[in-house]
Amino acid sequence: MCGIVAYIGEKEAFKVLIKGLKRLEYRGYDSAGIALINNKETNIYKCQGKVSDLENMVKDLDISGNIGMGHTRWATHGEPSDKNAHPHESMNKYFTIIHNGIIENYSKLRKSLEKENYKFTSETDTEVLANLIEYVYLKAKKEKKTISAREAVRTALNSVNGAYGLVISCKDFPEKIIAARKGSPLVIGISNNEYFIASDASPIIEYTNSVIYLNDDDIAVIGKNGLNLKNIKNIIKTPHIQKIDLKLDEIEKNGYEHYMLKEIYEQPRAISDTYRGRLNYESKFLRLGGLHNVFKNLKDAKKIIIVACGTSWHAGLVGEYLFEDFTRIPTEVEYASEFRYRKPIINKGDIVIAISQSGETADTLAAIRMAKKLGAIVIGVCNVVGSSIPRETFAGVYTHAGPEIGVASTKAFTTQITVLTMMAMSVGLANKTLSKEQFNSLVEELYLIPKKITQILKKAEQIQKIAHIIKDSTNSLYLGRGYLFPVALEGALKLKEISYIHAEGYPAAEMKHGPIALIDEKMPVIVLATKDKSYEKIISNIEEVKARKGIIIAIVTEGDESIKKIADHIIEIPYTDFSLAPLLTVIPLQLLSYYIAVMRGCNVDQPRNLAKSVTVE
Ligand code: M6R
Repeated sequence: MCGIVAYIGEKEAFKVLIKGLKRLEYRGYDSAGIALINNKETNIYKCQGKVSDLENMVKDLDISGNIGMGHTRWATHGEPSDKNAHPHESMNKYFTIIHNGIIENYSKLRKSLEKENYKFTSETDTEVLANLIEYVYLKAKKEKKTISAREAVRTALNSVNGAYGLVISCKDFPEKIIAARKGSPLVIGISNNEYFIASDASPIIEYTNSVIYLNDDDIAVIGKNGLNLKNIKNIIKTPHIQKIDLKLDEIEKNGYEHYMLKEIYEQPRAISDTYRGRLNYESKFLRLGGLHNVFKNLKDAKKIIIVACGTSWHAGLVGEYLFEDFTRIPTEVEYASEFRYRKPIINKGDIVIAISQSGETADTLAAIRMAKKLGAIVIGVCNVVGSSIPRETFAGVYTHAGPEIGVASTKAFTTQITVLTMMAMSVGLANKTLSKEQFNSLVEELYLIPKKITQILKKAEQIQKIAHIIKDSTNSLYLGRGYLFPVALEGALKLKEISYIHAEGYPAAEMKHGPIALIDEKMPVIVLATKDKSYEKIISNIEEVKARKGIIIAIVTEGDESIKKIADHIIEIPYTDFSLAPLLTVIPLQLLSYYIAVMRGCNVDQPRNLAKSVTVE
C-alpha cells in the first residue's frame, strides 16, 4: 500500500526522499511523487509509474530544498494517474499533503467544500482533506482569529472519518512539517538536528535507529530543532524514543535476484531465530515470554479463534490442526474480514489469536478491536516489531523472521507456523494433552527443521526444471490432506499472486466433488503426498488424477517408491513428524512459484495490483 517518506534537516531532501521511496517500493504502488520545500516555494513533481520514472522526470528541474515529502500511491479513490498521484496541494496552495489510508466521508466533505467554491483537480480523498484544512485555516484568518497550521489540521481531522497517516506542510510555516496518524502507521526517525518521517522504518534505518512510533490521534509538529507532540484533543504528549534493531543488509537483496528468493533461502535462519531463546534442545525447555501474562487463560481456554488474512490465514489453518491435536481446545480460524462483519460468539475465557506479518493489516486490526470489545483476550503473532497489532494486543509472540520485503509471503508463513507449534506444544504439555515423550520428540524434530529446509533448498535446480515444464499452463490444482491442506491453499496462492496462473487449493478428497471436472492432459496437479496417516488415501487421489491424464507433481517423503511409479514428477523431501510437515512441504511450492513467475517475466517482488501491507479495509 502507499508509502510515505519525509525529511527535515540539513541534507538535500531530494536524495533522502528518492532513496526512501525506493526502500518503500516493496509495499506495492502505481505512482510516485515528491514535494520540495524551499522557503515559501514548494515544488511538486509526481507521475504515474515507478520511482525511477519520477527521477527521470525531474532530471533538469529544481530539486533543491532541505525539507520535503515523498509518496508512493496505491490507488483507492481514482485510477492510477499523474493527477491522482500525491502530493496534493490545497486550492490556494497553502497546504501540501501526502496521505496513506482512506477518508471515508470524503464525498460529503467534497460536496460541502464545493459549496464554498472549492475546485478539485483530482478524484482523491486526499485532495479533499488538503482543501478542508485550508478552508479551516483561511476562514479563521478571515475572521481575524489567530490560527496555527497544527490547529487547522487538528480542526479538520476532527471532521474526518477513516484512517490516515499524513505529512503536511503549510506555506506560511515553511520551516516546519506536521505528521498525524490514525490507523495508518507513521514512524519518526531522530538524528542530530534532522528528522525522518516514514510509513515504516525501512527508509530511516540508514540514518538513525532512534525512532518514535506515533500513536493514533497523535499530531506532531516537526522543525529542524525539535518536535512537539500533542494529540487531537490538544493534550501535550511526551514522545517515547525507542531504539530499533533493524540492519540495512536485512532490507537489501544481498546478491539475490529478488527479495522473494532471498527470503525463501533465509527460512532456515529465520526459523532458528523464531525458537532461539525460547526452546532448548538439551533441557527440552520451552517458554514463550510474551505469553507470560495470559498463559493461564490460554491453557484454560474454552475456545480459540484465530483471525488473519491471506498467507497468515493459511498459517492459522495449520494452527487449528496443531491446537486441536496438541491441546484438545476447540479452535476456529476466521478470515479477519469476515469475522468483523459477523456477530461472532465470544464467551468468557475465549482466546483470539491474531496473526499478521506486517502487524498493520486493516481487517485484522479491526477484528482485534472487535474481539476486545466482546471481552476476548487477544494474542498477537506478528513479525514487525512495534507495529500496530502488537501494540493493540494483550500479549503476543514475535516471529523474528526479519524484514519480509517480497509481496509474496514466504518466511512469514513458516515462522508463524513455528510460533503456533510452540504455543500449542506448551499448552498441550501444561494441560497434559500432549505427553512428555511426544513433547520431547517434537522439540527434537523442530530443531531439525532448519537443516531439513536447507536440504530441500538444494533441490532448486530440479524444481526449476519442473517449473519450465508447467510454466505455460493457464490453470493448476493443489491438493493436500490434513495438515497439508492449508499448504495446498498456500501453494496455490503463491502461484496465482506472482505468476498470474489460476491456481486452486483443495482438500484432496474434495477433488471428486467438483474440481475433478477440470482435469485433462494440460492440467498440472500438485499433490502433497508425504508419508502420514492419509498416505494410502492420497495415493488413491493421485490415481484418480492419473486416470484423467492430469500432469502429476508430487511432493513425497524421501525414498518413496510407490508414488514415483505413478507421478510425472516427484520432489523428495526429508521425513518429519506429520504435524511439522507444513514447514517442509511448502518450501518446494514457494520455489516452484518463484521460478514459474521468473520464467513468465513477472515482477516477482511487486506483483500487479498487490500491496505488501494491506492497510485499507
Ligand atoms: O501482513 P499480514 O500477514 O497481515 O498480511 C496478510 C496478507 O495480506 C498476506 O499474507 C498476503 O496474502 C500475502 N501477500 C500472500 O503472499
